[in-house]
Amino acid sequence: MIAKTLIAPSVLASDFSRLGDEVETVAAAGADWIHLDVMDGHFVPNITFGPPVIKTIRNRTKAFFDCHLMIAPADPYLAAFAEAGADGMTVHAEAGPHLDRSLQSIRNLGKKAGVAINPATPESAIEYVLDRLDMILVMTVNPGFGGQAFIHAMIDKIRRVKALIGDRPIHIQVDGGIAPDTAPLVTAAGANVLVAGAAIFKGGSVEAYRANIEAIRGAGDAAL
Ligand code: DX5
Ligand code: ZN
Repeated sequence: MIAKTLIAPSVLASDFSRLGDEVETVAAAGADWIHLDVMDGHFVPNITFGPPVIKTIRNRTKAFFDCHLMIAPADPYLAAFAEAGADGMTVHAEAGPHLDRSLQSIRNLGKKAGVAINPATPESAIEYVLDRLDMILVMTVNPGFGGQAFIHAMIDKIRRVKALIGDRPIHIQVDGGIAPDTAPLVTAAGANVLVAGAAIFKGGSVEAYRANIEAIRGAGDAAL
C-alpha cells in the first residue's frame, strides 16, 4: 500500500507560547502531518487545547491536521473540530459506547476517520468497524503525557492489526515513545504513520527539527 514512513510530529512537545511558529517550522522541516493532541482532563489525566486553538494555527501550514481526540464524549465536539480545520479525527475506542456512530459522524463531516486503542485494549475492539476506518492508532504508551517509555508488548499488537486490516487501505499509526531506536520495530511490524513529540521538538531550529524527523523516518524506512 504505502511504502514510505510518514512522520507526524506531536505539538504536545512544542513551545505552546509560540505554537503557530512551531507548527510552521516543523512543517518546513519535512513533517508529513501535524499531530494535535486534544486532552480533556477526564478521559486522560491532562488538559491541552480544543477547537479555538486549532483554528488559530490552521493558516500557518497546509499540512494535514491529524487530531487525536483524547476526550469523552467525543461526538458532541466533532463538528467543531472539523470547522476548526481538522483533516482527520481519531477517537478512542474506549471513549464511548457507540464507536460505529462516531466514525460515521467523522466521515459525514468529510474528514478522515481514525480509531485509537489504548495499550490494554485488544485489537478485537475494532474488528467490526474496519470498513469505516482510514486509520488505526495503536497507542504505544498510555495516553496523557509526552516523553513516556515505549511499551514493547505493542509490537505484537501492531502485527495483529496489520493482519486484521488485510488489503483495506487503512493507515497504521503509532504514538508514544517513538524515536530512532523504536521506529524500526514498529515499521517492521506494519506501522506506517509515526507520531513523535519529544524526539522531534528538540534543538529549537528548522535544521534540528529536520534532522530529528529524518532520523526517525530513515530508521523506520530502513526496516521495511
Ligand atoms: C500522548 C500523546 C502523544 C505524545 C507523544 O498521550 O498522544 O502524541 O505527544 O509523545 P512522545 O513522542 O514524547 O512519547
Ligand atoms: Zn497523540
